[in-house]
Amino acid sequence: MNSRIAVVPGSFDPPTLGHLDVIRRAARLYDTLHVLVVHNPGKEAMLPIAQRLSLLEQSIADSDIDGEVVVASWSMGLLVDYVTDVGAGVLVKGIRSQVDVAYETPMAIVNRHLADVETVFLLPDPAHALVSSSLVRQVASLGGDVSPFVPAAVARFLDTGARGI
Ligand code: PNS
Repeated sequence: MNSRIAVVPGSFDPPTLGHLDVIRRAARLYDTLHVLVVHNPGKEAMLPIAQRLSLLEQSIADSDIDGEVVVASWSMGLLVDYVTDVGAGVLVKGIRSQVDVAYETPMAIVNRHLADVETVFLLPDPAHALVSSSLVRQVASLGGDVSPFVPAAVARFLDTGARGI
């Protein structure tokens, strides 16, 4: 377990500017950051995991985020198994509101029981406080402009209709 290596997990369906903001802040705090696309069994997905991975890689490459950032996906079991495999000691989650605290706290406690892993909550820029992937999915599916809420690579992808909806 290494507290200098952290994992930022999420559905990233699709990645938003809020996600990028949390990744940027976490990359400043840790030596190595794994940004991990994880299937959330509780949510119906819009994009295949490989597409989310590709959009995250492009969005991070286009950004000013530096440091050692690894983008990967995980569908082999528990999130903490990936965390343990890469020798990380910390999970990082973005918290926009009390709703996120209520959603994230049980997962943080369960993950700490499952493995020796702490969860660190970061506060994103309030400019992104109302942005969520689920709202972006809804606006995109109804033909609206999502470019204020997502990285340029994601806006281009959703705008071209390449997602096939
Ligand atoms: O972006 P999301 O959908 O809020 O991310 C939630 C996610 C994918 C991080 C969460 O569902 C998760 O950790 N899934 C992995 C399965 C797991 O390990 N569950 C047990 C501990 S909560």
